[in-house]
Amino acid sequence: MKFLACSHVFLLFALLARSQEAASKATCRNVPGSPGYPSAAEWDALNATVSGRLVTVVPSAKFCTTLPGGACTDDQWESAVFRSAIPGAMNQVNWEQGYDLSPPSLCLRNGTTCGQGDVPLYAVEAETVADIQAAVKFSSTHNLRVVVKSSGHDYLGRSTAPSSLLIHTRNGVYAQTVYEQGKVNGKIAVGPAAATVCLGGGWVQGAGHSALSPALGLGADNALEFEIVVASGELLNVNQKSHPDLFYALRGGGAGSWGVMVSATFRTYPTFNATSSSIFLATENNTVSASLATLHAQHVFDWDSVKAGHYMYVIRDTSTNASVFFLNTYMPNTTASQSMVLLAPFLNASLALPGVSLLSQDFAYGDINDALFEDDDRIGLNVVLGSRLIPAATYRDSPSTVGEVYKKVLESGATEILGIMVAGGKVAENAHISSAVHPAWRTAKMHLVSVGTWDDSASLAEIDQIRHLFQKVQLPIMEEIAGSNAGAYSNEADVLEPNFRTTFFGPNYDKLSAIKSKYDPSDLFIVGAGVGSERWDEWGLCRV
Ligand SMILES: *[C@@H]1O[C@H](CO)[C@@H](O)[C@H](O)[C@H]1NC(C)=O
Ligand SMILES: *[C@@H]1O[C@H](CO)[C@@H](O)[C@H](O)[C@H]1NC(C)=O
Ligand SMILES: *[C@@H]1O[C@H](CO)[C@@H](O)[C@H](O)[C@H]1NC(C)=O
Ligand SMILES: *[C@@H]1O[C@H](CO)[C@@H](O)[C@H](O)[C@H]1NC(C)=O
Ligand SMILES: *[C@@H]1O[C@H](CO)[C@@H](O)[C@H](O)[C@H]1NC(C)=O
Ligand SMILES: *[C@@H]1O[C@H](CO)[C@@H](O)[C@H](O)[C@H]1NC(C)=O
Ligand SMILES: *[C@@H]1O[C@H](CO)[C@@H](O)[C@H](O)[C@H]1NC(C)=O
Repeated sequence: MKFLACSHVFLLFALLARSQEAASKATCRNVPGSPGYPSAAEWDALNATVSGRLVTVVPSAKFCTTLPGGACTDDQWESAVFRSAIPGAMNQVNWEQGYDLSPPSLCLRNGTTCGQGDVPLYAVEAETVADIQAAVKFSSTHNLRVVVKSSGHDYLGRSTAPSSLLIHTRNGVYAQTVYEQGKVNGKIAVGPAAATVCLGGGWVQGAGHSALSPALGLGADNALEFEIVVASGELLNVNQKSHPDLFYALRGGGAGSWGVMVSATFRTYPTFNATSSSIFLATENNTVSASLATLHAQHVFDWDSVKAGHYMYVIRDTSTNASVFFLNTYMPNTTASQSMVLLAPFLNASLALPGVSLLSQDFAYGDINDALFEDDDRIGLNVVLGSRLIPAATYRDSPSTVGEVYKKVLESGATEILGIMVAGGKVAENAHISSAVHPAWRTAKMHLVSVGTWDDSASLAEIDQIRHLFQKVQLPIMEEIAGSNAGAYSNEADVLEPNFRTTFFGPNYDKLSAIKSKYDPSDLFIVGAGVGSERWDEWGLCRV
């Protein structure tokens, strides 16, 4: 009897294993026209299961034509809050376009034609865990390409894919809400200075940097627990004790590769006051910009005594090569006058450089929740990024090389360079925490990002050139200060990184790969340059 039961169980396992093997061996996902693609009746049944929350999805430009008046205003188009409510919209519009489809399929604002591009076909506007589970099970049963999106603040196009089913976690908690609630409750959580980023979404899965990271660590360092629907459809409560392997992966192992996040619990701290400052400087040409970047590199340790988080945006006017340097600094437990004193050596030396002038400066003291709160983000552009984590040693040993690199990157055509000083301090001290955070974070000082942008009038050839500029031209330049095996922050980076396994995950990749095969054996959750994506084409539609 006992033996029989066992052999039954064995048979069941064998059958399950075989069907899973079949699914994992299928070369391509089902797309409209494939024999296995769901019928209209099957889609209707899914719709009934999710209480009518299955919607068809269109690119944001097409969505605008359905509004009263037939258009979005500029304010709507450029609003992260507005765009986050549109199922097919990404923050930056280029991620909706199918540049690499043949033929290319685009849908531009005010355009006369509109293709579906890289936008999903259907979305479940998920409101409950059961909605998410139904969508996950439907996707695996029918071998569909599935994508997950909370707000669409995504610079690698991971929350969109052609012919896919989108699971839109539309009630994700935005950073702005975290700070509103933090202020009311006298608490602060480590989070980004952006309006609609969901801390429990891609942000923490990619490591999650913050202006508070030098003081309090990365988002991943502060995560305590998650609830996630994995590929089997099961809702898992994930913490250090229950699932140490998945807990490790969800903290830095890459956005969108593990399942659909339902909740995330982060450590909070008593709130404190801080000074946030904005300083705008103008430079006359790329040579002056380089000198200012060198000077800045010589001063980046000036603010360590107060564990400041600091952002430097260099925005180049493409017709004149004059730039604006925007320096945005957050100093915990520091008054405005103390903050001015700490910035004065850099600022005074800057203004002594020929060709540099002060446009404006502003210092605001108050609750850190107010400093980090953003009511909206201005977006709706075409934006690609390329980045590297720059070691603190570079800034100590060769600040003038930093300036030379800025000059060359600006001359190569970058419209913007972001120097995001969110490492050092507590990020370095947290090196002992076992998580999938790339170890390069622990020795870095800066996350350096080159930004490529274009207008809708750009030709496909021009767009192609800009999309590949980082790999072809800018990366070898950045390696002069990053080193040739440097890591990058996987949430603000180039999705075309050829060696993404080492660049984004370093020595953690093999472990992550093993965890993926345990929780997602048939690669349901595949994103560009994410764990397992080496087995898939650029759209996650066919195995390669
Ligand atoms: C899903 O059902 C709702 C409510 O019945 C309906 O309005 C909607 O159009 C359906 N979605 C699709 C994709 O058919
Ligand atoms: C599109 O049209 C709107 C008005 O409907 C206008 O404000 C906007 O500038 C136009 N944008 C582009 C990219 O043509
Ligand atoms: C801007 O810089 C580029 C690259 O160095 C150069 O080719 C171009 O002539 C410069 N433009 C102006 C207006 O100086
Ligand atoms: C700010 O000061 C308070 C009170 O001294 C302290 O508990 C807290 O750790 C400080 N916060 C930071 C980020 O330094
Ligand atoms: C910076 O310049 C201001 C005004 O010129 C001066 O009062 C201040 O002492 C200078 N600070 C430093 C650190 O050089
Ligand atoms: C850049 O501007 C500086 C300051 O005005 C000037 O001295 C220098 O000649 C300019 N260099 C170039 C290449 O235009
Ligand atoms: C924080 O700043 C506010 C506004 O300036 C002030 O009223 C409050 O007393 C400050 N709190 C502390 C602990 O310094």
